[in-house]
Amino acid sequence: MKRLTVPAIRDRKTDGKGGEPLVMLTAYTVRMAQILDPHCDILLVGDSLGQVIYGLDSTIPVSLDMMIAHGAAVVRGSYHSVVTVDMPFGSYEASPDHAIASATRIMKETGAAAVKMEGGEAMAETVAFLTARGIPVMGHVGLTPQAVNILGGHKVQGRDDATAAKVLADAKAIDEAGAFALVIEGVLEPIAVDATRAVSCPTIGIGASAQCDGQVLVIDDMLGMFDRVPRFVKKYDDLSTRIEDAVKHYAEGVRSRSFPGIEQTYQPK
Ligand code: KIV
Ligand code: NA
Repeated sequence: MKRLTVPAIRDRKTDGKGGEPLVMLTAYTVRMAQILDPHCDILLVGDSLGQVIYGLDSTIPVSLDMMIAHGAAVVRGSYHSVVTVDMPFGSYEASPDHAIASATRIMKETGAAAVKMEGGEAMAETVAFLTARGIPVMGHVGLTPQAVNILGGHKVQGRDDATAAKVLADAKAIDEAGAFALVIEGVLEPIAVDATRAVSCPTIGIGASAQCDGQVLVIDDMLGMFDRVPRFVKKYDDLSTRIEDAVKHYAEGVRSRSFPGIEQTYQPK
């Protein structure tokens, strides 16, 4: 399987024509990337790793170095999906120059094909600047977790006219700036549908709509590895319980001296 390209993703606008939706999942580590890669179109090295891997309260403290370390691991563990790395809070907002310096480090030091940044109209100039200089950008609008302190929590967007209009205007601005795809997170379903119809690039929903041109979930959430999950997460497994069962058996084995058994020890010939 050859690695997919950014233009191939850009071409996957379904436009209600029954095209196949894009499959995206987050990945942060090499083994997980290897398992997910054949089944996905895009692997997102999300700054959700702040909570999921590092136990932080939000994505705000996540550093560029953290994103680069995990981005490189995911590139090493994949050969098919387009790897996209989140630009963390504080690494791109100040100016297009600021953003290109950070994005260049991500691309050089990880081998990823694209970056993702949160924000709408305010980031459009930056999206155009990077895209014109060889850096494909995925946008992210709606509930943007890096803006948690402005939004006042992880709140669904679009319940009032002002936020509904903002989601739409942001989506259009990022699309027109040249983003190759757009994550729409945590918005009322009809607004996700409107935004999907209003933009030319594929939209990738999370807490959005099945009418988006693709879907994404945080891998640990859908595997039941992370406990505080929003209602838009579907749990496809309960790995926490399965891991705990395995660990209980190991602990029992050690405490009863039944582990290691004869098969796990080296005996003289
Ligand atoms: O960081 C992340 O995991 C994300 C996805 C939820 C879109 O940005
Ligand atoms: Na993110």
